[in-house]
Amino acid sequence: MKYDASFFQSFPDRMGTNSVKWDACRQEHGADALPMWVADMDVTADDAVTQALVKRAQHPAYGYTVVSDADKAALIGYWERRHGVTFGPEDIMLLPCVVTGLKACVRVFTRPGDGVIIQSPVYGPFRMSVELNRRTVMDAPLIRDGNGRYTMDLDAVEACCKAGAKLMLLCNPHNPVGRAWTEAELRALLDVLNRYHVPLVSDEIHADFVFAPRRHVSVLALQRERVVMLCAPSKTFNVAGLQNASAVSGDAALLKALGEETEASGVVSGNIFGLEAARAAYTEGDAWLDALMEHLDNNRRVLAEQVAGRLPRAILTPLEATYLAWLDLRAYGFDQDELMRRTEAAGVIFTGGTFFGEQGSGFLRVNLGCPTAHVVEAAARLEKALQG
Ligand SMILES: Cc1ncc(COP(=O)(O)O)c(C=O)c1O
Repeated sequence: MKYDASFFQSFPDRMGTNSVKWDACRQEHGADALPMWVADMDVTADDAVTQALVKRAQHPAYGYTVVSDADKAALIGYWERRHGVTFGPEDIMLLPCVVTGLKACVRVFTRPGDGVIIQSPVYGPFRMSVELNRRTVMDAPLIRDGNGRYTMDLDAVEACCKAGAKLMLLCNPHNPVGRAWTEAELRALLDVLNRYHVPLVSDEIHADFVFAPRRHVSVLALQRERVVMLCAPSKTFNVAGLQNASAVSGDAALLKALGEETEASGVVSGNIFGLEAARAAYTEGDAWLDALMEHLDNNRRVLAEQVAGRLPRAILTPLEATYLAWLDLRAYGFDQDELMRRTEAAGVIFTGGTFFGEQGSGFLRVNLGCPTAHVVEAAARLEKALQG
């Protein structure tokens, strides 16, 4: 099938599919609520993915399944082709999802009570992965400039290392602040961590959503020892319901320890349909993804226009990567609860900023993985929510 950006201006009705984004949202917030929250896109999947699933389902035997060489070769080929990162089959360990990987890494590389560095505001499960495992969050919050652009605070990272941190969790690219970390930034971070022998887990689930002229820089391209990279087709190809992800590391000892941890805790990977979808996406999905990126780039521009026109006091963080925009509404003077109440009453549901840490109070995260008309409608509803 041929794809262009217009393909993404419509998608099948998702109500009645047990969709978290749609069914659960409308159950909680009302039948007209427009869901602009969870990182799940309203898109029609690549036909190559659907065909692979249908073909597999036509063989009615669904027993235990091996993760084949072809599964790993598809992942390897994809990262080489799209990101210029090279690794081998021995560097890969499958996982059911990326958050499983974050939690397993916390358990493997630290002991209860140990400090783990995160950079708030950051995707909520980073903090939860630390706290649920009874480790201690050591926050090195990002620095925000007047235009809403964020950079790393390496002095704060170093202070955490000095205070005994045992691990760092990096979001690369960063959800929710939309940064595509540069090679210079990542090298500077690794310099600090290496001085204190602190390992780095880099969640690169948003790697494919970096807007040109920027490009994704994987930590794996910079260092093989003491780093684990987590990736998945789930965001890129919108197949999160199929549960397939990978940990990749050139550090055999780290990977072995991670394997022992998942084995001990009973985490099993290799769902037949997850594997089929990943293999099809990684080998045949480039055209669909390129067209999607064009569409998201346009949505990014439309949101900026809408914010400038309708929300003059808002600050929209420049979006370098991800399909998740970060909107500072603090100038409107509402606390987080009031912001959520007002947006719900206006019929639009965003992810509240405090999901990413207390620094997110007064912010909303806007999901742009939808038809452009939804971006415009959401902005109109948000404008209404902030009035009066
Ligand atoms: C940075 C980041 N990591 C992980 C996830 C979740 O990935 P998974 O469903 O594979 O656990 C998300 C989802 O939004 C995310 O934004």
